[in-house]
Amino acid sequence: MRKIYVFDTTLRDGEQSPGVNLNTQEKVEIALQLEKLAVDRIEAGFPAASPGDLAAVNAVARAVRNASVIGLSRSREQDIDAAREALKDAQDPCLHLFLATSPIHRKHKLRMEKHQVLETAEAAIKYAKKYFSKIEFSPEDAGRTELDFLCEVTEMAIRAGATVVNIPDTVGYMTPSEFGNIFKTLKENVRGIETIQLSAHCHDDLGMATANALAAILNGADQIEGTINGIGERAGNTALEEVALALETRQEFFQAKTSLVLNEIARTSRLVSKLTGMVVPGNKAIVGANAFAHESGIHQDGMLKEKTTYEIISPETIGLKESKLVLGKHSGRHAFREKLIDMGYDLNDEQVNEAFAKFKVLADRKKNVIDEDIRALIEEKLVQTPEVFVLDTIQLSYGNQSVPMATVRIVQAEGTMLEEGSIGNGSVDAIYKAIDKATKEEVELEDYSIKSVTHGKDALGDVHVVLKQGDISVHGRGVSTDILEASAKAYIDAINRLIDKRKTPGGGRHGSMSLI
Ligand code: KIV
Ligand code: ZN
Repeated sequence: MRKIYVFDTTLRDGEQSPGVNLNTQEKVEIALQLEKLAVDRIEAGFPAASPGDLAAVNAVARAVRNASVIGLSRSREQDIDAAREALKDAQDPCLHLFLATSPIHRKHKLRMEKHQVLETAEAAIKYAKKYFSKIEFSPEDAGRTELDFLCEVTEMAIRAGATVVNIPDTVGYMTPSEFGNIFKTLKENVRGIETIQLSAHCHDDLGMATANALAAILNGADQIEGTINGIGERAGNTALEEVALALETRQEFFQAKTSLVLNEIARTSRLVSKLTGMVVPGNKAIVGANAFAHESGIHQDGMLKEKTTYEIISPETIGLKESKLVLGKHSGRHAFREKLIDMGYDLNDEQVNEAFAKFKVLADRKKNVIDEDIRALIEEKLVQTPEVFVLDTIQLSYGNQSVPMATVRIVQAEGTMLEEGSIGNGSVDAIYKAIDKATKEEVELEDYSIKSVTHGKDALGDVHVVLKQGDISVHGRGVSTDILEASAKAYIDAINRLIDKRKTPGGGRHGSMSLI
């Protein structure tokens, strides 16, 4: 079975998703989970983009021991130097250099002739080779590059010292047969191709990213690049879990496999969704909430008779377990701790105590607390942002014929109690206006979404918000059996993240920096 290397770019291309802005701690948290998932390579960021990005890549490089850590760099010496600095502590560092090669990019973006593109890339690879033994080179927009020029560029990159040549379908324009043909052509025509690895990097603009990555594998690609949940620039990147499960489920067809620990997929997906604030659509392949749900009577009947009638992947394969033990308000700390261990959480005593206190509050409001509730409570605060503001109480007056009015009490870090009231267009609007007054933060609410964690009237509501202030955008999350309380907690969580972000050098989003 041929091994396909997995290059995860959740922390770089994934972070380029609109509204996503991970802090250093969150990047490390995701990187450590990617290590458990056993990805081979982790692209941690773009060090030259900002001091904040450089520091985050450095923190990931220091934390990760069992995967190669990669920094992205334009074909310029300053960028390469920033990546050197960021990756200096990595166990297995790799530099990812890129330069656009397609006629559209050469003409309008780079204003370079073909020979200048070749010379610029060659000089950058040679300069980088003095410091990095592993270099991946990407001819950006390879999909729309003339095939003979792409062969020439690939041959130059190999001669100059690249160890991986990555073929990006930067704008998600390719069809599977066209993209597969690029790999076949490179394999057949480029001198020295057997000495390097060929990689595929696809975007999902036409919904073909997974199919294109699989076509690349069928035509000789050694590595696939992608993100967890398929997040990324515009419509996103190849979803790694989809490729891994396609190879696993159709082994006889692909004759290739990744080394991923598949039963870590569900946990990784949830973590990425929580920390990026990007909700996974219910019908998303592999990790969507409905991916293993059977609604129609005919399907349910088939499942009861023989699972394989309608199930090609078992939920256990990706780490979804049936809940055995239901907890309630009489459950003690011991049962709770056992439950956490069973669910795969490795928390210290202080974290268990904090989670247990939250569990008790929830158990008072909700009869049966199931795995999904506990997961929501634990993951609500997986990475601690310093809490400048903490919600104390909310009072609301609401009537369908009157203007809603909210009063909030918030405790400030040093213990000061802040109390403000406001009217609004709706209950949530009134609460948010009151919080704005109390915290004296001027923010724009860019996105608000709410979903129910479990079923039933006492289900937990899980609220996500995205707030913007200047060029900083942050997300926040709040969970409660009361959706208005969850809404307030999510908003305050986002404000705390905003304050934290302002303190980091280069805390603003780097997405505006051009990738030229
Ligand atoms: O999509 C793309 O072209 C990229 C490159 C930087 C590899 O993300
Ligand atoms: Zn990309």
